[in-house]
Amino acid sequence: MFDYRADELHCEDVPLTRIAAEVGTPAYVYSLAALRSAYRAYDRALAAVPHIVCYAIKANDTLAVIRAFAREGSGFDIVSGGELARALRAGADPKRIVFAGVGKQAAEMEAALRAGILMFNVESPAELEALAALAERLGTRAPIAIRVNPDVDPKTHPYISTGMKKSKFGVAIDAALELYARAAALPGLEVVGVDCHIGSQLTSIAPFLDAWARIRALVGDLRARGHRIRYVDLGGGLGITYRDETPPTYAAYGDAIADAVRGLDVTVLVEPGRSLVGNAGVLLAKVVYNKAGAAKRFVIVDAAMNDLIRPSLYEAYHDIRPVKRATKDGVHPVDVVGPICESGDFLAQDRPLPPVAAGDLLAVMSAGAYGFVMASNYNARPRPASVLVDGARFDVVRARETIADLMRGETVPTSLG
Ligand code: LLP
Repeated sequence: MFDYRADELHCEDVPLTRIAAEVGTPAYVYSLAALRSAYRAYDRALAAVPHIVCYAIKANDTLAVIRAFAREGSGFDIVSGGELARALRAGADPKRIVFAGVGKQAAEMEAALRAGILMFNVESPAELEALAALAERLGTRAPIAIRVNPDVDPKTHPYISTGMKKSKFGVAIDAALELYARAAALPGLEVVGVDCHIGSQLTSIAPFLDAWARIRALVGDLRARGHRIRYVDLGGGLGITYRDETPPTYAAYGDAIADAVRGLDVTVLVEPGRSLVGNAGVLLAKVVYNKAGAAKRFVIVDAAMNDLIRPSLYEAYHDIRPVKRATKDGVHPVDVVGPICESGDFLAQDRPLPPVAAGDLLAVMSAGAYGFVMASNYNARPRPASVLVDGARFDVVRARETIADLMRGETVPTSLG
């Protein structure tokens, strides 16, 4: 949905130059058609099994994005009371919401219980007891799955691997039967499912197959012990192409899921985040200066690590494209950096780019997932505007923060004069 037309990069039918002129930079720009087509690809891939695609809101929690998926019939994966509130505000069906996370607090669990969510993905014995007590006090029963840790290596960045023994997430699969027995004995709980999630940006299907085979076996063991398992949540994690990665196709992914649950008579839940939004968004930035350092050339832009932290935090690669296709030949390696006072503030390093001049626009690609949501106000920088494109129209779906926004809620004690 982002392509060059007449040498100018467009999002759907809108030239990015127009958005920059009207909204300013930096700005996140999302394609509604890309969001929809990713959702529909998942839905189609899972057509052979009863399923709910639960969009993992953490990847991009813009209300308009959540709304777009809700209109497609999506379910949602949340990890906080804030995400619950966003989901409900955007019109999500609570009966299609699952709630994960290792540190759910009483107020968050209570809000989710009152909303009537589909299930809690419980991550520890302590959380299980707390949820059971809370539900009992409220005179209700909390539907739960236990998030089990299948101990497979997803072969992705260590910061985004979650399903190994050393991880803080989930419960060791060997300890699961005991915890399910405990859950069944607690009147505040109703066991309805099994959950796992092994990591993010997986580019091969093998780790999924290992994990899901273990989950399948566990479902059999649980049923043999009398638990009524209706939902199997297979997590998120399907990778996307940032550069030259070749993640499994939707068809291969869907077939693998169908195999994993064949004959089980369950509803499959999946919790994709990145693959639904990642390639549906770009971060639009403007060149401020060129700078020839002693050893390197720098292109200094008006977006920085506070706007998109992935390159700094994970050494992630994001393609960078000039919005006006270069007419001159030749590329030179440059570091594309922001104005923040840290050497770690870069969007790309040693990246071959055609020459650019102050005022030129660049699009940082594949920025729809874990972009804005991880943005901060470091260096007292207002967070960017967000724009949603739909065909030839676009809307600002989140206003650029103002300097006043940055100081909202602060007071200086009178004792300081
Ligand atoms: N479900 C659970 C329980 C998760 O922890 C996550 C992601 C997802 C689903 C969605 O995974 P996805 O389909 O997006 O891979 N900030 C990092 C990614 C962190 C992922 C955290 N958990 C990044 O920018 O790469």
